[in-house]
Amino acid sequence: MVHEHILARNEGAVRVVTIARPDKKNAFTNAMYAALTEQLVLADGDPSVRVVLLEGSGGCFTAGNDLRDFMASPPTGEASPVFRFLLQLVDLAKPLVVAVDGAAIGIGTTLLLHADYVVVSREARLQMPFVSLGLCPEGASSVLLPRVAGQARASEWLMLAEPIDVERAREAGLVNAVVPKEELAAFAMARATALAARPAGSVQLAKKLLRDPHRAEIKAALSREGACFIERLGSREAAEALQAFFVRKR
Ligand code: COA
Repeated sequence: MVHEHILARNEGAVRVVTIARPDKKNAFTNAMYAALTEQLVLADGDPSVRVVLLEGSGGCFTAGNDLRDFMASPPTGEASPVFRFLLQLVDLAKPLVVAVDGAAIGIGTTLLLHADYVVVSREARLQMPFVSLGLCPEGASSVLLPRVAGQARASEWLMLAEPIDVERAREAGLVNAVVPKEELAAFAMARATALAARPAGSVQLAKKLLRDPHRAEIKAALSREGACFIERLGSREAAEALQAFFVRKR
């Protein structure tokens, strides 16, 4: 099933999955998480697919979780669509390339920690504004970000929660490459095609060996953060911050 906001197409051995809700900056609804999860499962099970390439649409990657959904139908536990998506992402056997243009907010940044190759445009705006929304880190960022970028940058990016300069993100190891906007799609496809040209069994084994030692710790972090996140969604600080976003937009 292809969802109206989660599109998928094959380009050779690359399965291109596009987050396509540009009028809402590609913000994820529960239904979109479910559709994206299904795409990951399908890609892993399809022998003609060697690489998954995830991108946004309309000059934006994703504004993160739909803030209206947070208020109307918040996650309630590990059966919720966002958790199922994150678990599937952690267990994706095939390599994942991500192309980021414009906003990559919240889970739009934390999902990058699970990708195998990340290219961003110079216009990309990475940000994890969880604390500004009265929430807390998610996506296993509390364990993966310090590992990738060091404690100082992880604390700064998760606690001050300001937008992250893309060159700093590259230096820190959060992204692999920064390219001009007009070159982003071709660059990402070239990287994905290069990965697809390597022996598939070896590429997947390399990914497994890189990820296996940390898998249990990452899943434990998802659970720990998830429980806190759900609790925070019920807090007054979060209610006020979420309300403020939509009041500002009026
Ligand atoms: N949830 C729900 N709707 C969202 C959204 C989100 N996370 N992000 C953007 N939108 C909607 C806006 O409400 C607006 O809808 P409208 O046209 O019906 O008013 C539309 O998308 C366009 O967004 P807008 O804010 O006008 O675009 P912008 O270019 O000025 O700013 C962002 C883009 C991404 C910087 C800004 O929308 C933003 O900060 N979004 C919230 C990000 C966030 O906090 N995510 C959650 C992280 S946990």
